[in-house]
Amino acid sequence: MDDIVQAHDLTFRKMITAEQIAERVQEMGTQLARDFAGRHPLFLIVLKGAYMFAADLLRACPIDQEVAFVRLSSYQGTRSSGTVRMDLDMTAKVTDRQVIIVEDIVDTGRTLEAFRQKLLADAPADLKVVTLLHKPEAQAFDLIPDYVGFTIPNEFVIGYGLDYDEAGRHLPAIYQRTDT
Ligand code: IMP
Repeated sequence: MDDIVQAHDLTFRKMITAEQIAERVQEMGTQLARDFAGRHPLFLIVLKGAYMFAADLLRACPIDQEVAFVRLSSYQGTRSSGTVRMDLDMTAKVTDRQVIIVEDIVDTGRTLEAFRQKLLADAPADLKVVTLLHKPEAQAFDLIPDYVGFTIPNEFVIGYGLDYDEAGRHLPAIYQRTDT
């Protein structure tokens, strides 16, 4: 796979290889399995970006588990208030459950923090956040993910589920924007 890729008008350079991702995701799955064995956790997968990460992570986490999907999007014009639209699979009940949010990336943390607050209102027994990528430089909210795959600089990235206007999701590695 090329080290340089084009997505729409932008050029991206490989930052994390597919092999590095596979190794780290395996470690994370093992750790989650250790931490949640016997507790039947509910994994809430945040669409669309986390689908590829979640598929690999949950295969690496061989414990009794439940999965649900949620689509989050910020309302236009109200981003600063942290208002998000949330389409939750309503068959999933979070009350008294061990809930684990699976995210692709925590950037400002705005979306995730709003989602966390909504879930906490339903009184889960425990609420954890696992993210493949974390950009601590960009973070504006007081949210520290419990499990982090890779800490990265404040650069725009694509690949392994993350997109630039729907381009680049299929790439097996993570690529960072070159022209900033
Ligand atoms: P946040 O609310 O600023 O933490 O970010 C919300 C969402 O923006 C993330 O879940 C991603 O879907 C998207 N996002 C943030 N940074 C990037 C990036 O570098 N590449 C692709 N998507 C991103």
